[in-house]
Amino acid sequence: MNAISRLSTAVSLAALMPLTALAGEVEVLHWWTSGGEKRAADTLQKLVEDQGHSWKDFAVAGGGGEAAMTVLKTRAVSGNPPAAAQIKGPDIQEWGELGLLADLNQVAEQNGWNELLPPQVIEVMQFGGDYVAVPVNVHRVNWLWINPEVFAKAGATPPTTLDEFFAAAEKLKAAGFMPLAHGGQPWQDSTVFEDLALAVLGPDDFHKAFVELDESVLTSAKMVEVFAALQKLRGYVDANAAGRDWNSATAMVMNGKAGMQIMGDWAKSEWSAAGKVAGSDYECLPFPGTQGSFAYNIDSLAMFKLSDADNRKAQEDLARTVLEPEFQQFFNQNKGSIPVRMDQDMSSFDACAQKSMVDFKAAAASGGLQPSLAHGMAASSYVQGAVFDVVTNFFNDPKADPQKAAQQLAAAIQAVQ
Ligand code: GAL
Repeated sequence: MNAISRLSTAVSLAALMPLTALAGEVEVLHWWTSGGEKRAADTLQKLVEDQGHSWKDFAVAGGGGEAAMTVLKTRAVSGNPPAAAQIKGPDIQEWGELGLLADLNQVAEQNGWNELLPPQVIEVMQFGGDYVAVPVNVHRVNWLWINPEVFAKAGATPPTTLDEFFAAAEKLKAAGFMPLAHGGQPWQDSTVFEDLALAVLGPDDFHKAFVELDESVLTSAKMVEVFAALQKLRGYVDANAAGRDWNSATAMVMNGKAGMQIMGDWAKSEWSAAGKVAGSDYECLPFPGTQGSFAYNIDSLAMFKLSDADNRKAQEDLARTVLEPEFQQFFNQNKGSIPVRMDQDMSSFDACAQKSMVDFKAAAASGGLQPSLAHGMAASSYVQGAVFDVVTNFFNDPKADPQKAAQQLAAAIQAVQ
């Protein structure tokens, strides 16, 4: 029985049981609308409904969540935020400062969150020492997805270094395949940029550049090298990439049109939804040159203050459910991520997830664990936006100067601090 059918059995059994007296409604804002990600979101909806509550889906399409955040701001400004919203990283602090977030301390205490979660994660989920958000998963951003059949046809070797990556791209191109499936959207351009940065700079300088915003690293020769690599990589992207969604790019690798995709492991949600098996139908490789490093992207649901007691109960039940092992398993097996509970039994997860968990723990111990800039974990949304602008302008101009781009990067970051 797979996770979904186990879940529907649980749900149909629940339908026979009396509903709890305190049934409320939770409205949840997220951007998990691709086929695979929707399956993951549905697991949460079912578990919440299972407890007698009703789920109001507030899904706003658009990879990376920019559109969702715009809609959330409008709703919050009009005094009508949803019960829960996917808000991540340092942004949680910005919402906390507005005084809009609800305190989850009681749920956290009753369910031992302090013991379950890594300390770095706890810090992000709290505002002023109070829990205001609950983490759902850990995504890894520095992955390369390949179609082994296409590689075999092209005589290409799965790459472990940047040089090998470009050599593989060349072989794929020569054999008539699209070397790299990419979607030309700012957040996708910056996802690629950040993986190159992690490879070229290494985790320490990555941290200095994107967390400490250290000008000397932002303008360094290594950063110029990152932009130069991005320019070279751009040469392996097709002319129709502009505006393409990430899941359409995944589909191109899946159907054998393209050989590779650089994307976080939500890409795996599409492979899983299509019934493809990790290690045979597709392979997940740490992005070449970033073995030992782990750029993390933790999805989390921040909770807004509510006045209705039943809805508040539903909100607390949602928060509690998210960290229960059952949800952590169902959701993450569909979403492509790994559980945020470090004690989770990983035996029913696939090879990519098992590798991710091992790598996460090793990177946490070695200093290789770094927050993703492209996915809002490293710096404020203002810094993230400034980086997106510089990277995407550079990406779209094949003649752009890498040296100048590094200067522009530092200046753009400086301007929003
Ligand atoms: C990320 C988010 C992931 C996934 C991805 C593509 O920002 O954390 O969960 O949805 O965007 O939209």
